[in-house]
Amino acid sequence: MNAAQIGLGLILMAAVGAWQLPVYGQAAAESEQAQMAKGKKVYAKYCAGCHGAAGDGGGYKLLGADPANLTSPSIKKKSDSALLKTIHEGNPNMPSWKGRLSEQDSRAVLAYIRTLAK
Ligand code: HEC
Repeated sequence: MNAAQIGLGLILMAAVGAWQLPVYGQAAAESEQAQMAKGKKVYAKYCAGCHGAAGDGGGYKLLGADPANLTSPSIKKKSDSALLKTIHEGNPNMPSWKGRLSEQDSRAVLAYIRTLAK
């Protein structure tokens, strides 16, 4: 089992645990809020510098590379796993966060990014 499969497994477990058991609806709503607060913090600390406070790519621009506009509709179309992969592995101009963000923090920040997309 490689890291990607483990990551996917964790994501699936989280999805089932948090959202697919109606009995836990109440708890899920609370933990979603906590996750969102955490995601917002992680974003402000690690991501806003490049992607901009509002996620519109208005932060620091590397030479020739626009940080992705995280509010754009194209983000909305991408799957959680595709976005998590970029956050984990990085891109030519996007740093890799694998070693710095826990699985939980990555998901929290992804959940936060989802709220930025219009
Ligand atoms: C050093 C600047 C920088 C930082 C810091 C940074 N990014 Fe990025 N990010 C980029 C750039 C530049 C791209 C576009 C990469 C490309 O197209 O090759 C990108 C792309 C992305 C994408 C892919 C968007 C798509 O269209 O698939 C996601 C998601 C993303 N960043 C999330 C994050 C998150 C979450 C953080 C904080 C944990 C973060 N980024 C921190 C520069 C940065």
